[in-house]
Amino acid sequence: MTENTILTVKIHKIVNECDGVKTLFFNMKKGNNEYIAPKPGQFVMIWVLGVDEVPMSISGYDEHGNWAITVKNVGECTNSIHKLKIGDFIGVRGPLGNHFKIPNKKSKKIFLIGGGIGIAPLKCFATKLIEMNYKFTIIAGAKTDSDLIFIDDFQSYKKLISEYHFCTDDGSNGLKGLASDIFEQLIKDFNENEFSNIIVYSCGPEMMLYKLFQKCQKHSIEFFASLERIMRCGCGLCGLCTLDPLGLLVCKDGPIFGLNILKELKDFGKFQRDITGKKIKM
Ligand SMILES: Cc1cc2nc3c(=O)[nH]c(=O)nc-3n(C[C@H](O)[C@H](O)[C@H](O)COP(=O)(O)OP(=O)(O)OC[C@H]3O[C@@H](n4cnc5c(N)ncnc54)[C@H](O)[C@@H]3O)c2cc1C
Ligand code: FES
Repeated sequence: MTENTILTVKIHKIVNECDGVKTLFFNMKKGNNEYIAPKPGQFVMIWVLGVDEVPMSISGYDEHGNWAITVKNVGECTNSIHKLKIGDFIGVRGPLGNHFKIPNKKSKKIFLIGGGIGIAPLKCFATKLIEMNYKFTIIAGAKTDSDLIFIDDFQSYKKLISEYHFCTDDGSNGLKGLASDIFEQLIKDFNENEFSNIIVYSCGPEMMLYKLFQKCQKHSIEFFASLERIMRCGCGLCGLCTLDPLGLLVCKDGPIFGLNILKELKDFGKFQRDITGKKIKM
């Protein structure tokens, strides 16, 4: 079995995270117990029969081969995923792409910063860091109160992690502002030594990622962002997810890119491609 084999799996659990967002659980073990372990930050292509195949981050997994995806209903395929019931089948191809690398020093000040559905891969990473006894700070943002996801999960991590902050753009729950604004507030009194000990992992709306990138670049903070682009193949064949001018592919070389690559990407924070490959402004 390779990562590009499609496995047809049965959905065994569905959780409503908030209005318009559901987490689906399925088992990726084959009959002979063959099982590819995913890594936090990787994604899968989810095939809904007769509809489409779309990329989804892995939001959780365990040692028994149970994986989870957390899906926001935004269009045709995600709407079909939301209509699925326990016992229905989906096709899963993956795990695909690169992953969040665990810092080699536990003394690093780690920030996981996510906005909207971008929190999904960070939740998976948070679980791994907790397993490995790493301390870290989570900043999770959403547009409004009803869009916040994983609040109970993150509250339950509180004793195991350093800090947990949540925020909404309109201030309807938690702190008011973008996750990137909260990060700026938290580090505003840091000195150069403290900046050099920070490592930021982020995923969410690209404007938020771009703001974080600018802040991190200014203070030479280690920074990683998981990017989203429309994908057709998810495995380097179609070129739809190409990032100019380096020609890197989000599906093969990403979705996670470090600051040194991001600063070379003219597309980052500015352009994406539509389904035909035409470049459009963000
Ligand atoms: C690596 C990666 C990981 C992702 N992880 C998640 C996740 O964990 N949970 C989740 O809900 N979504 C995730 N997405 C986004 C998800 O793939 C899209 O929302 C989905 O493909 C939309 O399909 P649709 O048929 O429902 O929407 P469509 O009807 O095709 O389009 C609806 C809207 O979504 C936009 N869109 C379509 N495809 C994408 C895409 N690939 N990325 C961003 N916007 C898109 C369209 O431009 C349009 O505005 C991820 C995307 C990538 C690239
Ligand atoms: S989605 Fe086809 S090359 Fe990346």
